[in-house]
Amino acid sequence: MKYTIAVIPGDGIGPEVTNQAKKALDAVAEVYDHIFLYKEAQMGSCAIDATGNPLPEKTIEICKKADAILFGAIGDPKYDNDPSLRIRPEQGLLRLRKELDLFSNINPVKAYDQLIKNSPLRREIIKGTDILIFRELTAGIYFGKKETSKDGKSAYDVCSYSVDEISRIAHLAFKASQSRKNKVTLIDKSNVLETSKLWRKTVTEIAKQYKNVELEHMYADNAAMKLILNPKKFDVILTENFIGDIISDEASVISGSIGLLASSSIGEDNALFAPVHGTFPEATGKDIANPLASILSAAMMLEHFGLEEEADAIKRAVEKSLDLNISTQDIKGKNKYPAATSKVGDFISDYILNQEDSNINFMNIHAGQSTII
Ligand code: IPM
Ligand code: MN
Repeated sequence: MKYTIAVIPGDGIGPEVTNQAKKALDAVAEVYDHIFLYKEAQMGSCAIDATGNPLPEKTIEICKKADAILFGAIGDPKYDNDPSLRIRPEQGLLRLRKELDLFSNINPVKAYDQLIKNSPLRREIIKGTDILIFRELTAGIYFGKKETSKDGKSAYDVCSYSVDEISRIAHLAFKASQSRKNKVTLIDKSNVLETSKLWRKTVTEIAKQYKNVELEHMYADNAAMKLILNPKKFDVILTENFIGDIISDEASVISGSIGLLASSSIGEDNALFAPVHGTFPEATGKDIANPLASILSAAMMLEHFGLEEEADAIKRAVEKSLDLNISTQDIKGKNKYPAATSKVGDFISDYILNQEDSNINFMNIHAGQSTII
């Protein structure tokens, strides 16, 4: 099959890691006889530098025409110290979400056995964790009216939600839970916020259509605590935009490395796949960032195309790289001969192409150890 993929490398380590995902996709294309046609587009700080606009029209056009979007990361430290700047890189991503109506951010959090030792949480707490977070992405406080008063002494951000905006993502969450443990936890702040009350009422009503699914309610503050104390208790999490932003980052600690978490942002007609991590400015251009989250985003994209076997091939290669310890320094530690970003990408791609036959060769060649071939 032929697929057109809009590639938005973005800022910071975005381009480096996205290149590794493309290598993995190219290997899949070769083995499974597909054509992936990449259309590169700009967004974020690099787009502001080039055009003055964090989301040029051309990028929107390319994305709308593509079968899916592969995105890297967005942001630049030069914007961080001046919150008064009116044009900011992040606006590009927010506008793209709105423009393409990517209303559902789906974020799987799994504890990888090989990485549990890297988590600051104890093994017995996180082992076996498997959570799927559904974060609403195109409404709420992110997109409400916002203003700072003329004298700069007050400001507001309006949070609003409609029943329709809540319902469409709620249905996705309930449906997903049916092929999992049949449990949905709605996280809100309905003891305080009107929008949360609407979420609770709407989702409780929708739950009646999913009789085999248990709906649990949890306040956001309590959820933040439970997620760390007992993450195994969660199956599907459903929540609004701002709470979901925070909960997703918190949950990323559980996996043992944020460098492995991929997420998808899905709408009716479009879908974007990206690592959960950000631009990692300290690592930019050094070939040391972990490319696995980007590579796993590519696998999620293949699943979205219905190419399960192909996605599995990428996931198996990622598992193998972890088993063989062909990993970047965030996993392996600086002093233990970490592999470069590009080398991890080479290994994943070689493994997809050659499978088990050449394990030992890979290990020797790519880890830079003495070669016994
Ligand atoms: C995310 C990011 C974005 C968000 C930023 C870059 C605007 O943190 O995708 O979670 O807050 O949604
Ligand atoms: Mn975030």
